[in-house]
Amino acid sequence: MKKIVVEGGVSLKGEVQISGSKNAVLPIMAATILCPDIYRISRIPDLRDVRTMSSLLEILGARVESKGDTFIIDTRDVNKWEAPYEVVSTMRASVCVLGPLLARFGRAKVSYPGGCVIGTRPIDLHLKGMRMLGAQVSMEDGYVYVKSSHLKGRRIYLGGAFGPTVLGTANVMMAAVKAEGETIIENAACEPEVVDLGNFLVKMGADIKGLGSPTITIRGTCDLRGVDYRVIPDRIEAGTYILAGVITGGEVRVKDVVPAHLSSFLDALSTTGCKIEEGEDWVMAFREGNPLPLQITTLPYPGFPTDLQAQMTVYLTTLPGISIVQERVFPDRFMHVAELLRMGAKIMREGPKAFVMGPTQLIGAPVMASDLRASAALVLAGLKARGKTVINRIYHIDRGYEGIEKKLSLLGAKIRREEE
Ligand code: UD1
Repeated sequence: MKKIVVEGGVSLKGEVQISGSKNAVLPIMAATILCPDIYRISRIPDLRDVRTMSSLLEILGARVESKGDTFIIDTRDVNKWEAPYEVVSTMRASVCVLGPLLARFGRAKVSYPGGCVIGTRPIDLHLKGMRMLGAQVSMEDGYVYVKSSHLKGRRIYLGGAFGPTVLGTANVMMAAVKAEGETIIENAACEPEVVDLGNFLVKMGADIKGLGSPTITIRGTCDLRGVDYRVIPDRIEAGTYILAGVITGGEVRVKDVVPAHLSSFLDALSTTGCKIEEGEDWVMAFREGNPLPLQITTLPYPGFPTDLQAQMTVYLTTLPGISIVQERVFPDRFMHVAELLRMGAKIMREGPKAFVMGPTQLIGAPVMASDLRASAALVLAGLKARGKTVINRIYHIDRGYEGIEKKLSLLGAKIRREEE
């Protein structure tokens, strides 16, 4: 088992190249199933989740060839409609083949994704959307079966107890692209990754209006084709490196980003007294003046992203006073807190809230990564801590951060990967 070892205390400085967005590329790869053709997708990050999605496409009959950060995906021979347990259990995002398989074959069989450390994570809204488009949905042996000889568009309210659903919106949008007539998704997710998928579908020939707003209107068509497409940069990776800079008292400039995708995060940083500078495709942040504590609430986009909550919590340990984190997307997403306590953080959790008392000097310790973003938070904590931090079970981090130790080393971090 591999681990990451970090010697803390170095201020990180310099520029880092941001990779393509994991959460955008996964549904886009799934969308290539919709129409049997050849697709050329660029700015694909080298990540474990991307390799898992490639394997799933290959299991279904596609051919996937990679040339640097470009994938050529040929879905002409896709002839299966089953996403097996072995794949879905390693990556929940596999569920986003449901909509495209249903649209292409009139049927799909997908292993029901289990819970994970950040919560129970149901897919009831995905299935509600499929039902409303006219599919029959049943469950057997841990698999969801969806079947329809004729998908028909209609108005679908897709909100749940925790707001809109990102992959649920993606799934319904992909199924609706080939449904008869007009589908209106209400309370749709507005995340840039959903917009990117929508733009990809529009380039394929789909008729979609309202992307980036809570009401998306899709007019079904059979006239789709394979296209070339470049995926958006990863706003969560960008936010993580900006935090690596401010947490260590340095300054990191992230390049090849869309600054507007980072608005709520940058606003939160400037509320704590950070200075933000940005250009058309870069952002830089550094500490200035007296730092202030912060209250953040994670919310669907354009609110503060839950995928930066754990990393932001590490930053809050460096601020004076009491900062408050409220998790409104995944109320149980606090696995990183117990590990941060082992490093000397003073954090009290109360239901979906965490109270962070600071500033505290974090101290290096052996810690355990529990999920992707929690792993990134522990790396950030290690960069700030006095002494050595050993992060175990780091396979989580390779799901979502391309070459994290290489990128951090270029910024001056003392970080290495070791075999246990
Ligand atoms: C996606 C992202 C993930 C991010 C999350 C929220 C990908 C691959 N993953 O996950 O990184 O943290 O959005 O921004 O893009 N819910 C239901 N019923 C459903 C679906 C969701 O109740 O059918 C709930 C969830 O439990 C959660 C909330 O809705 O409380 C939002 O989840 P959702 O937006 O669906 O997350 P994902 O799309 O799985």
